[in-house]
Amino acid sequence: MTSAGFNEEESKSRRSSLDISHDALRDLSEQFVALVQNYYAGISQRPVFPHTTGEELERAFNEPPPLEGEPLEHLLGDCQKMIEGTRHNGHPRFFGYVASPSTPVGAFADLLASAVNPSVTSWRSAPSATQIERTVVRWLGSLIGFDEAAHGILTSGGSMANLTALLIAHRVKSGPQTASEGLWNDGAPMTVYASDQVHLSIPKAADILGLGHRHVRLLPTDDHFRLDIRALREAVESDKQNGLRPFCVIASAGTAASGAIDPLGEIAGVAREYDLWFHIDGAYGAPAAMVAEKRASFAGLAMADSISLDPHKWLYTPVDCGCLLFHDPTAARRAFVMEADYIKVHEQAEESFAFWDYGIELSRRFRALKVWLTLKYYGARRVADAIADDIAMAEYLAERVQAAEDFELLAPVELSICCFRYRPPRLRARLAAAKDHEERDRINSELNRLNERIMHDVQRSGRAYLSNAMLRGKFALRACIINFRTTRADIDITVEVVRAVAREIDIDESR
Ligand SMILES: Cc1ncc(COP(=O)(O)O)c(C=O)c1O
Repeated sequence: MTSAGFNEEESKSRRSSLDISHDALRDLSEQFVALVQNYYAGISQRPVFPHTTGEELERAFNEPPPLEGEPLEHLLGDCQKMIEGTRHNGHPRFFGYVASPSTPVGAFADLLASAVNPSVTSWRSAPSATQIERTVVRWLGSLIGFDEAAHGILTSGGSMANLTALLIAHRVKSGPQTASEGLWNDGAPMTVYASDQVHLSIPKAADILGLGHRHVRLLPTDDHFRLDIRALREAVESDKQNGLRPFCVIASAGTAASGAIDPLGEIAGVAREYDLWFHIDGAYGAPAAMVAEKRASFAGLAMADSISLDPHKWLYTPVDCGCLLFHDPTAARRAFVMEADYIKVHEQAEESFAFWDYGIELSRRFRALKVWLTLKYYGARRVADAIADDIAMAEYLAERVQAAEDFELLAPVELSICCFRYRPPRLRARLAAAKDHEERDRINSELNRLNERIMHDVQRSGRAYLSNAMLRGKFALRACIINFRTTRADIDITVEVVRAVAREIDIDESR
């Protein structure tokens, strides 16, 4: 049998080469493009989550390493098997976590980026890719109203953007010796402030940086899950009085749990007053600042020193692509500039630009291409309209929930996340009649268990996909809608699927 990409004649002269013939390349291109095209065309007809098990997938994929190449048809068959076995984030009823569908143009951009394969370390290594990334960074800063001349860097995602931001903040606010000496003898612990809704990547970043996640003060929030400003002031004051060194406050502009936006303007005021670095985690929510009706909720955004924003979330590009934006590039340089012969730059001015001076990675894939092409293909207005539609879908879901006897809305819908729970009439009546906290807690625990089972069974049904959030001790079914394929009919179906699954479980449990 002839292996993929070779014909008999050529294989004689090319045994040791991975280069393939023009015909083989054409075949490969046509077949894979057709696979992608069919995937997109049929995505709505697939189950959102595969009807499979870990054991079945292990049997299907856990083969010995292939020592000989296989024909293209086999590979395509394997790719079909991969597609059958995956969760489809682009399905119109996928609402889990913060995962978006990929734009087709973004997917082809990734293909092109991989084919050209520049490693976007610096202008010298990848001149046009470097310029395109710098342009994309500036566009993002301008589109969300952060800075018309923003600087920044694309990252693997929000976690890496937040880690990079915290490192810059720490190096700006700590002494010049920290980089060379480490945190030994660096003085009293330096403290970070955020709400108790902040994404786990922040305490994790504090841990990675050796600051200790215990030194991230997780502060209470109001009825809308927004950081309580009084609590922020009190925590900073108290830490100062105890000899600690407050250095950074982090606001969420779109919490992962419920989409809450902290009061950015007020937080900026506190940051100024106490000389704190002000970072915004807008990994999920910041693109919504492109929607005119939502701009007011982001007032104060431009006063932040840095902001994270993930194109691979609400700009719908394929994973991976996060972004960290900042006003002042010298702060980032101070954190990252290092000397080494092999990175010495001999060029002048623009041509001396190197991303390694602004972030952690050296070799970097060409992430900017998919953002650049997505924005150029649709135009920022159409992307903003898609974001506005997602928000409208979440509001519609909230309306359906509020109009139903057996559902309860658990958080206001600020962006495109709707958190709710199933509350059957029998438990609703018991809650209303509960005499004390203990009894209410018992009923809530029962509701938590019930809703956890509902989430699991809805996911496994393959008809819709919700994830969860824990809000003030209540297990919420959480729909995060960042999906340009979702329609009102999909929301209606989701409500019916959840109700049908819930009733079945509830009958089973109350037997
Ligand atoms: C608010 C927020 N910040 C940070 C992150 C981390 O982003 P990533 O998964 O791209 O690392 C997430 C992920 O959902 C998020 O919602």
